[in-house]
Amino acid sequence: MLFSLRSGQKPGDGPAAPASPLEVRDLTVAYNRKPVLWSVDYTAPSQGLIAIVGPNGAGKSTFVKACLGLVPSVSGSVKVYGSPLGKRRSLIGYVPQRESVDWDFPASALDVAAMGRYGMIGWCRPVGRAHREAARACLDRVGMADFADRQIGQLSGGQQQRVFLARALAQEARIYFMDEPFAGVDAATERAVIQVLRDLDSAGRTVICVHHDLQTVADYFDHVLLLNTRVVAAGPVGSTLNAETLHRTYGGRLGPADVPGVRKHVAEAGAA
Ligand SMILES: Nc1ncnc2c1ncn2[C@@H]1O[C@H](COP(=O)(O)OP(=O)(O)OP(=O)(O)O)[C@@H](O)[C@H]1O
Ligand SMILES: [Mg+2]
Repeated sequence: MLFSLRSGQKPGDGPAAPASPLEVRDLTVAYNRKPVLWSVDYTAPSQGLIAIVGPNGAGKSTFVKACLGLVPSVSGSVKVYGSPLGKRRSLIGYVPQRESVDWDFPASALDVAAMGRYGMIGWCRPVGRAHREAARACLDRVGMADFADRQIGQLSGGQQQRVFLARALAQEARIYFMDEPFAGVDAATERAVIQVLRDLDSAGRTVICVHHDLQTVADYFDHVLLLNTRVVAAGPVGSTLNAETLHRTYGGRLGPADVPGVRKHVAEAGAA
């Protein structure tokens, strides 16, 4: 059951509004007592692709990890479809930032994709034929079926990225966090990845991506969360991504004049 009563709502009050896929309240995270996220509030919309945008060191990966319970928080709460994270972990898929993965891990591309099924199979239990075939189908979806038996460490960066996407797909999650899924991939892989993300969105899944390329934010995403330790702004791309919010997010180091894609997008928004 993915719907819950809102606080203050009684059972007789009629149908509850569906809970947000992700509700973050007053989240503060610190490393070595230095806060890198400060009192972050964010409610994800239930439709549309979401980008998290901000400069290096802004806390984007930390935000994703805190939402997944991978780093401890000083304060705050994370709810997934209205419930605490612990109860909803199986609904979440994760594609980590590339640099954070140990690529010497002795596993084939198919083994890695099949890891997405462990939540359904149970750890330390053999991966049955049906699950392996499901994992293979996910490799096929990202154009990696021909590399199923290749060791993960012997794939190129873009190919490894596709395999991690396949692992997330194999999980059949409801909400996906992807940390820079387009980093270091060629144009063909970028197109393949965005198609997969759009298919997930069309299938009612929530997709939240850390994204660095300001030129493509407006083309690829419907909503944006501008983050730099704090939330600078969040909402639909058209009304949220503008000169002032970019300036504040990047501490004055960047504005739309630096970024043709954003300049075009801001001009179109202004003309509308
Ligand atoms: N495990 C850690 N221990 C100590 N400090 C950390 C740790 N991980 C991240 N940091 C610091 O926390 C801050 C936020 O890091 P984070 O990785 O969340 O940034 P980011 O926005 O994802 O950056 P990038 O765009 O470079 O990936 C940075 O100053 C970083 O140096
Ligand atoms: Mg990061």
